[in-house]
Amino acid sequence: MSPLLFDDVLSKDEVREFRTHLDAAEWHDGAATAGEMARDVKRNQQLPDEAGVAIELGNRILRVLGQHGRFTAAALPRRIFPPRFNRYADGGTYGMHVDSALMRVAGTPHTLRSDLSITLFLSEPDEYDGGTLEIAGSAGIQSVKAPAGSMVLYPSTTVHRVAPVTRGARIAAFFWVESWVRETAERELLFELDESIQALRATSADEGAAILRLTGVYHNLLRRWAIT
Ligand code: NI
Repeated sequence: MSPLLFDDVLSKDEVREFRTHLDAAEWHDGAATAGEMARDVKRNQQLPDEAGVAIELGNRILRVLGQHGRFTAAALPRRIFPPRFNRYADGGTYGMHVDSALMRVAGTPHTLRSDLSITLFLSEPDEYDGGTLEIAGSAGIQSVKAPAGSMVLYPSTTVHRVAPVTRGARIAAFFWVESWVRETAERELLFELDESIQALRATSADEGAAILRLTGVYHNLLRRWAIT
């Protein structure tokens, strides 16, 4: 799957408000939360999970995503990890790594399986040099650098990195989704089918029997593939 970009998650006003809080926040060394393997390649800063500003802004992101139909259709989220915030500056980087399969949510009894990884950009591309998110796939490496307020979704099964930031600072939120549908290929088919049905609905004068049957196919596939 190629990374999916959502360009309308936060408005520019919301980004400005997020940044007012984040630019004044106290950032910590990000290596503290990396797994054994990742610790060597991770050089960035993070807000502690328990920081008030991280909790408050993270909850705002979750509320926005709860209303975002296209995200819901693409990710089929069962559970979403509380968003974390990171900052790359002064050559900061996160070298090639894989995300852990199981993510414990600090301070709770919950552990999530990471099916999808998310980056929500909170810096404009012209605020920093470098800092592209690079995702290895069968078609080679895909590079992502997107405007503030936009979000990229990619399978957690991929090897990926954040290139060194050589000027300015790159601030982002990052988190994971445990999906109702674990397999990327199945999730992609459902998303494709859902978008096609929506497009047919939008162009048809009345909801004919064919659209109803396709909707039935969608739900029967989801019923077959959803892990409960
Ligand atoms: Ni990662």
